[in-house]
Amino acid sequence: MSSIKVECVVKEKCELGENPVWEEKEGTLLYVDISGQRVSRWNPSTNKIQSVRTEKCVGSVVPRKSGGYVIAEGTRFASVDWDRQKVTTIVDVQGEKSNNRFNDGKVDPAGRFFAGTMAMEVRPAVLERKQGSLYTLHPNHTVVKHFDQVDISNGLDWSLDHRTFYYIDSLSYQVDAFDYDINTGSISNRRMIYKLEKEEGIPDGMCIDTKGKLWVACFNGGRVLRIDPQTGTRLQTVKLPAEKTTSVCFGGKDYSELYVTSAYTGMDDAAMAKQPQAGCIFKVTGLGVKGIPAYSFAG
Ligand code: BGC
Ligand code: CA
Repeated sequence: MSSIKVECVVKEKCELGENPVWEEKEGTLLYVDISGQRVSRWNPSTNKIQSVRTEKCVGSVVPRKSGGYVIAEGTRFASVDWDRQKVTTIVDVQGEKSNNRFNDGKVDPAGRFFAGTMAMEVRPAVLERKQGSLYTLHPNHTVVKHFDQVDISNGLDWSLDHRTFYYIDSLSYQVDAFDYDINTGSISNRRMIYKLEKEEGIPDGMCIDTKGKLWVACFNGGRVLRIDPQTGTRLQTVKLPAEKTTSVCFGGKDYSELYVTSAYTGMDDAAMAKQPQAGCIFKVTGLGVKGIPAYSFAG
């Protein structure tokens, strides 16, 4: 059995680091600093970071088949031309409350971009409740709203057979599942699959591994959980040296490395002194499991 190793690999801190995506072709890790308002890309072989600034809080970033990226920023979906450092609106989400912003997002196996919203926070996880919604940006650039009444729209992923959609509304402290129709992108039959224990913190970003198990980053929990969505049980806990662990993705060689983003938002000097690595990105190796490549937006 190999032993688990946690390394701090991206030392340039994010106030609210989120949404890591492994870019296989370039061998780079893409991520956002939501409140720091930038999209960044870290190259492990050179240790260089490149960034593009955004106008507003940027909740998530996804690769695009035709090149560049798409972000969910403020209340819009926008394209990012990396070389020109240019962000262009694809569509502003109609009817979205002006005090809302996009949060976590991911591309489904058919190339649709799912992303949800939340109200702006007074402090981490403190906000006007039930203001958020979950949306899909389809490849033809139409936007579909799935539901509203969301507190903090967060982690999402699809089962390996594409028949289930997993979703986290953070303040429910649950991981939920829906039936998924890959042909239309519609969801139905919501149910809970895992309820977090108090000391586990607030469920945030998540991703699936090649065995169909879910890896859930826990905000204020300093850990990542491995959940079996079939049995609703926790299989494993990996602790990290930062309390505000925000999101996860597999990457690196054969997708055997787990990257975990973190945040220092809302922390005072004393808390920062206790957790000098808050806001860094960690690499976990020796887990003995692998992830799957990220999908790209098809529009
Ligand atoms: C949000 C944060 C929030 C955290 C905990 C993150 O996805 O971007 O603003 O505090 O989840 O729920
Ligand atoms: Ca998140």
